[in-house]
Amino acid sequence: MESARLRQQQHSESVDSGYLKNAILRSGGQGQQIGCAQWTGLRAPPHDHARTQGPERRQIKFWNEAGIAYYFSHREAIRAERAPLTRRLIEKAAATAGERALDIGCGFGDVTIELARLVGPNGFALGVDLSAPMLEKAEESARAAGLRNIRFENIDAQTHAFQEHAFELLVSQSGVMFFADAVAAFANLRSTLRRDGRIIFASWQWRERSQSIAIPLNVVAQFIDVPPPRPPGTPGQFGFADPDLIRKILDSAGFVEVTVEDMREKLPVGGGLTLDDAAEWFLSVEVPTLLAKADSAIRSEIGRTMRNALRPYQDRIRSSNGVCNMARECVCARVNQISSTKGLSLPGA
Ligand SMILES: C[S@@+](CC[C@H](N)C(=O)[O-])C[C@H]1O[C@@H](n2cnc3c(N)ncnc32)[C@H](O)[C@@H]1O
Repeated sequence: MESARLRQQQHSESVDSGYLKNAILRSGGQGQQIGCAQWTGLRAPPHDHARTQGPERRQIKFWNEAGIAYYFSHREAIRAERAPLTRRLIEKAAATAGERALDIGCGFGDVTIELARLVGPNGFALGVDLSAPMLEKAEESARAAGLRNIRFENIDAQTHAFQEHAFELLVSQSGVMFFADAVAAFANLRSTLRRDGRIIFASWQWRERSQSIAIPLNVVAQFIDVPPPRPPGTPGQFGFADPDLIRKILDSAGFVEVTVEDMREKLPVGGGLTLDDAAEWFLSVEVPTLLAKADSAIRSEIGRTMRNALRPYQDRIRSSNGVCNMARECVCARVNQISSTKGLSLPGA
């Protein structure tokens, strides 16, 4: 049996001041005054990410190159699969008319668009992300939806000099666990939150807590070496899986009254796939790197074992065609901006 190790992205570290600084400085001009900047109505030009420095340079490269292939190839399936969790997060954020909302690590902008709808014409939604290609798609979607109270910015949320106390609401779906320095990032985000503001974000729980991660990985591990989870707090997919760590980070960033809870939903695998397609989804979409070194005999064996492992999750009751539904678990954190006990000076709401 061959063994394969997950190849981690090896990103070259390149140097320049370039684009992010420009994005910050670009905010002059005759635009409309909102949120974090004075809007010119134009997004920054495509970023030469190979020439970026700063704490997020690896992430910038990842989210502009290798890291986005998965999201671009399977955008609709991923969105459909995660829709129940997205709905829950948006409900918890409880955006109301007239609020100004910031979506951190907005990706294709689905949450930003929903926030823009909820805050309405007297409110505003800003989506920020490191990935220029994803933001292009986000802008297309916002235009197609006919929204005028929405903008996207290609900036690093960890270090960007946002306008102080500009937003009532900060939201993130799986966008905050990549920060190189999470305390610094949340202290920075905190400065753009108003006195009566709140932050609500979701991040993935440990992989063994989610059926749709643990079960396929366990199948693969019967045939191939699967790398152990990275240590808690390592920036990445599971960087914010530990509720205690999240509390410590938010506390160190100056927040009080932090609430962290589990958010669990049954998700339709691949957006709604039947048994054979769901098994193939895991093999070719979710864990292809692990299988890269498996020969065709082993791959077929893994496929057969995967189908058997998924069979109990086929929903023949609610779904006549037998779509596979599997639970996925997030950590959902909420903090309010109330911190006079920490001696920080806060503006009026
Ligand atoms: C897993 S994707 C989630 C995208 C989107 N929120 C969603 O739910 O589909 C994580 C996103 O966070 C963005 N991101 C990571 N670090 C960031 C940072 N420091 N500043 C802004 N965006 C960041 C990435 O570019 C990527 O688009």
